[in-house]
Amino acid sequence: MTTTARYDGQAEWYDAFASADVFTTARQAAVSLLGDGPGRCLDLGCGTGRAVPLLAAAGWSVVGTDVSADQLALAQEHAGEFAEQLLLADAHALPFDGESFDGVVSILTHTDLDDLTGAFREVQRVLKPGRTFAYVGVHPCFGAPCIQALEDGTWLVHPGYREPGWQWISRDPANPGIRSRVGINHAPLSTLLNAALESGLTVTEVVEPGDRDPPLFFGFHAEKR
Ligand SMILES: C[S@@+](CC[C@H](N)C(=O)[O-])C[C@H]1O[C@@H](n2cnc3c(N)ncnc32)[C@H](O)[C@@H]1O
Repeated sequence: MTTTARYDGQAEWYDAFASADVFTTARQAAVSLLGDGPGRCLDLGCGTGRAVPLLAAAGWSVVGTDVSADQLALAQEHAGEFAEQLLLADAHALPFDGESFDGVVSILTHTDLDDLTGAFREVQRVLKPGRTFAYVGVHPCFGAPCIQALEDGTWLVHPGYREPGWQWISRDPANPGIRSRVGINHAPLSTLLNAALESGLTVTEVVEPGDRDPPLFFGFHAEKR
């Protein structure tokens, strides 16, 4: 599989967008699910490196990987000093030996990956036995492209939740967001969780972090047994 670096050319935009407090909530939740180091931790799809300082503060020696050179350049700028290594690598074919990490975290990535099960299998391969994979992403039900935020604070559910796959057309063409810039690979909740289960990881806890109602994020703690 050839993975396109969809964030190349969009990194400055993404970093401004993703520096909002609401996304910090997702990153903090993932670090909390992972727990404290010490040890070597992989941040899979690290983007512009926003979680790297949080992981380092939790005692981890962080290796960040991403398929976008532009995202990694900003990660180097913001978080290079907190990382053991920042590396261009495809989540579907990681350039690491098996059982080489004490923890793996991935944040806001499942809607960007072409093959979720394949990527989670790579996580399972590089993780040491007994160790944790922590994932937090946009909620497949309440943050999906089929959900439209209305001005009065309510949410409108359009048909389409059951249709997995890439979506590129923004609901508001005058205000292009993540969908029209890099696409969203929508995965229903069952697809996301089954990808983790099919990878051989054991899911031990699920979370819906933050205080938005309905929740914007969904995550899980999984172990390699
Ligand atoms: C929404 S961003 C999340 C970035 C970061 N984790 C954060 O908290 O802001 C998704 C990231 O996944 C990366 N990505 C997409 N496909 C990838 C792949 N196959 N391998 C590695 N990274 C990938 C993108 O380049 C992008 O940086």
